[in-house]
Amino acid sequence: MLVQVGRRESFSAAHRLFDPGLSDDENQRLFGKCVSLHGHNYVLEVTVAGGIDPASGYVVDLKQLSDIMCRRVIQDVDHRNLNTDVPWLSGLIPTTENLALTFWARLLPDLPAGLLRNVRVWETDKNWAEVGDHL
Ligand code: NI
Repeated sequence: MLVQVGRRESFSAAHRLFDPGLSDDENQRLFGKCVSLHGHNYVLEVTVAGGIDPASGYVVDLKQLSDIMCRRVIQDVDHRNLNTDVPWLSGLIPTTENLALTFWARLLPDLPAGLLRNVRVWETDKNWAEVGDHL
């Protein structure tokens, strides 16, 4: 029987939604007020699924999952400008969708094979984007 467990970490970062290939007017039309530099208190939620290890009673030690999330994502993005300060986000418009997809790719290699199920990024209390192997 598979059991899902998860971990939530938060970070604060600045961004603007802006495509350098478009004119100022086109960017304004596409992104509205998000074209200006502003900040969010983001939440990163990661779900893993697997069998329970009889020795520990865990699917995975959530402290280890937390460490991986911090090492692979949080330490690089917390208190940064996502447009300019994070080499592995370079060239991407830092929408919540692109963050979720990129965070998935950052986390996958550091987790035991087959464990990662879902990565959800909350940009605000109301807006989130999710990447999952069930989609
Ligand atoms: Ni924003």
